[in-house]
Amino acid sequence: MSLPGWGDGTRSVRAGEDAPVAGAPLRPSPVFAAPFHLADQPPRTGGADAYARTEHPTLRALEGALGELDGGRCLSFATGMAAISAAVLAVTAAGDRVVLPSDGYYATRLLGAEELTRFGLRVEYVPTLEIGAVAARGDLDGARLVLLETPSNPELDVCDIAAVARATRAAGALLAVDNTTATPLGQRPLALGADMTVGSDTKALTGHSDLLLGHVSTTDDDVHGRLKGWRDRTGGNPGPFEAWLGHRSMGTLDLRLARQAENARAVAELLAGTPGVTGVRWPWLAGDPSAELAARQMLRPNGVVSAELPDEAAVGRLLAGCRLWAAATSFGGLHSTLDRRAQWGGDAVAPGFVRFSCGIEDTTDVVADLAAGLASALGGRAQDPAQGGVR
Ligand SMILES: Cc1ncc(COP(=O)(O)O)c(C=O)c1O
Repeated sequence: MSLPGWGDGTRSVRAGEDAPVAGAPLRPSPVFAAPFHLADQPPRTGGADAYARTEHPTLRALEGALGELDGGRCLSFATGMAAISAAVLAVTAAGDRVVLPSDGYYATRLLGAEELTRFGLRVEYVPTLEIGAVAARGDLDGARLVLLETPSNPELDVCDIAAVARATRAAGALLAVDNTTATPLGQRPLALGADMTVGSDTKALTGHSDLLLGHVSTTDDDVHGRLKGWRDRTGGNPGPFEAWLGHRSMGTLDLRLARQAENARAVAELLAGTPGVTGVRWPWLAGDPSAELAARQMLRPNGVVSAELPDEAAVGRLLAGCRLWAAATSFGGLHSTLDRRAQWGGDAVAPGFVRFSCGIEDTTDVVADLAAGLASALGGRAQDPAQGGVR
């Protein structure tokens, strides 16, 4: 089913649906199978499934939905990192130059430094805020693949996808965009000229903190064929339960993103008005360095905010003073959580740098709880704008 002109709520629920069949369930059920009956057919004749490592009905349903939201053909993977490795390794060979974000997700940077280099790829790192200038100077000439992550995790910098896409095309390179933070409802990299859009669907896309998934979508048949071949041979596809659960969870994406964004706005404003908290980042906060580009390039806000407390001890006191906000890594789930990124060692951030993942609890509760935690952390200086005063 195509979804012309429908809004995000309708698209979240209806993407990938087949035409209704009387007596069939409204939602597709998972098909649990590794091999399928072949009868006397050679595999794949007559559209029959043969073996679930290469394809299975539940995966097709998930991929149909994701592909519709992305505006391309989708291949799902067991995790976001499996999807990112596929996006790089399916289209490159030894000696190729690959450009990765120096401030992107730390496992992506490690993939470059520890793995891709072992296979003879020439890996270079460029900060998200500099890739536009690098592209404009023609310095992507000779690259095979450029990967962007925008907004970047965890610092939420944004780069101009369309401008970099024009440069990569002119340079004969491919452009992939890690769209995890935005989700396919928040940003459509393929429509902006990217060759691949990649996501960790572990995050907001499925959004319940109970499964790992990733995907790559593309409008290029050759790239799709390479990705499919890579996945068939390396075996990275999700099984039926994950595929079904991921597809089911996507139905509420629009609602979840809307509440997360509402909470993020209130949280960003609370943090920005709290003495002792610095460097508040949310691309839709007035005055944020990413605000202008985000408004031009993105379709809607999301729920991740970052900010800096004075030190590690202050983050500990913040957590101790909260009842709702809990420490957890990952983001995009139902629960409001926070993550002191320096504890993982991979990000070049200060000890008090925190990534706040706003959940879907009531805004007043999330803000009041965070204000109480900030008051404990910073000596009673946090202001809850809803209460109109200092706590
Ligand atoms: C931006 C980004 N890309 C990719 C990944 C990797 O995803 P996964 O943990 O599903 O492998 C993450 C995980 O945090 C991420 O934040």
